[in-house]
Amino acid sequence: MFSRLTASLSLPKRYELSNPRNDQKELVLIDNLFGSHRIRLYAWLSLASQILIVVTGGAVRLTGSGLGCPTWPECEPGSLVNVPEQGIHGVIEFGNRLLTFLLLFISLGTFITVMRLKKGNRQGLFWTSLGLGLGIVAQAVLGGITVLTGLNSWIVGAHFLVSMGLIVIATFLFWYSRGRRRLAHNKALSRLSLLMIPVTVAVIVIGVILTGSGPHAGDSDTPRNGLDSELWSHYHSYPAYLLLLLTVAQVALRWSITGPNSARFSLGLLAVLGSQAMLGLIQTWLGLPLILVGLHMLGASVLASLITYQALLNKAWLGIK
Ligand code: HEM
Repeated sequence: MFSRLTASLSLPKRYELSNPRNDQKELVLIDNLFGSHRIRLYAWLSLASQILIVVTGGAVRLTGSGLGCPTWPECEPGSLVNVPEQGIHGVIEFGNRLLTFLLLFISLGTFITVMRLKKGNRQGLFWTSLGLGLGIVAQAVLGGITVLTGLNSWIVGAHFLVSMGLIVIATFLFWYSRGRRRLAHNKALSRLSLLMIPVTVAVIVIGVILTGSGPHAGDSDTPRNGLDSELWSHYHSYPAYLLLLLTVAQVALRWSITGPNSARFSLGLLAVLGSQAMLGLIQTWLGLPLILVGLHMLGASVLASLITYQALLNKAWLGIK
């Protein structure tokens, strides 16, 4: 009787005070998702997803699906998603567009986690996580311009280079999230590590120009940049060999300073760089088979990150404490 009376007097559900137990559950959930212990995971996911989208973008280009969705932001005039008539090219291009949302989701999670850290623990993390989020939006727009210009090879190249920039930012985020690790170094090692950066930029930029002259445009009707592929392939390989030499020198210097154990990172870098150069040569001899070109793009993305990381480990970035 009493309970029926109180039930009739109780407020409608929307006016009920929140249940403290539910609030507790929500807090636990938020802590699980965005607790400070998650920052390393988000940094990993940010880096991995930035590399992944270069590879899937490569798949779009190499399968000739660049205009699988002929317009942007709609996939087909009047439809945001791909339609059956667009076939497999539409599926591949639209799938790549969808991946942007995964990247945005990861970057939002990263940013929320960073903002929940104490102010003193956010050093470097705030700007890198914000930069990644804004960069993803800028890349989506540039991807749209790429489509709207009918895959102009210079715009496609710029789209690739912005991705390389985002990989560099994600590497900084990763380094900050791991407590800004440094290896013992001397001036020579720091300078050598710094010199490797412009050489890598040269290899990548010339590689992108070379691609603009090659056969994989992203669509069979797209014009190429008209440069001589053979000549530009030489221009591309010279700084690549110089980079290999500089890395051998880094291994030797690192070994002499701190012994074989801490030379492991430089040795790993040498292995990846050597494989990338071999891959470059083999793909040229075999007439640029799709799989090898895709692997070469993956190698370039991983190297953009490793070269950034080695510079941070060897304290080559001036002004960053
Ligand atoms: C070792 C460091 C190297 C790096 C970091 C590197 C990086 C790159 C990059 C970023 C691209 C442009 C990818 C794109 O725009 O989609 C590219 C293209 C290319 N690279 Fe390399 N590369 C290296 C070594 C080499 C070597 C030694 C060769 C042999 C000549 C080579 C042959 C090529 C060719 C032929 C292309 C054009 C592929 C196409 O037309 O699709 N690469 N490389």
